[in-house]
Amino acid sequence: MEIQWHEGLAIGIDTIDKQHKEIFERISTLISADMEELAPEQRDIVLHKLLRFMGGYVIDTFKTEEEFMTKSHYPEYDQHKKEHMEFLKSYSSLVRMFEKEGATDLIVTATQNQTVDWLIKHIKGTDQKVTAFLKQSGYFSKTKNKAP
Ligand SMILES: [Fe+2]
Repeated sequence: MEIQWHEGLAIGIDTIDKQHKEIFERISTLISADMEELAPEQRDIVLHKLLRFMGGYVIDTFKTEEEFMTKSHYPEYDQHKKEHMEFLKSYSSLVRMFEKEGATDLIVTATQNQTVDWLIKHIKGTDQKVTAFLKQSGYFSKTKNKAP
């Protein structure tokens, strides 16, 4: 699975871009091993680490974004927050599935679809809209693009 952060995923807010880059680096390190080649116990370890990382770091990144949106009175905050909540919901169900069944093929694929693919889509669409608003509203010039 090819997981690489690239400039096309930059949203233009340094703090958040750094966090997104870290997410991609961590995910790519964790799943650089071909999951199909691994013994079941190793797959369990890799997936467990990935899910644990998602549950911590990704949630922190959401919080940073939400603070930016609140401070700048972003008009589409509710919709954006809803997407974050939906991610957390599917993340929780992945964790429950993993705890019950281990790293089955189905769970490995679902993790890719519901976390990695979701993140790419969310960053390119929903997150980049926030930056467009911050630029347009002049919020950046007031804060010099720093964390709220
Ligand atoms: Fe977001």
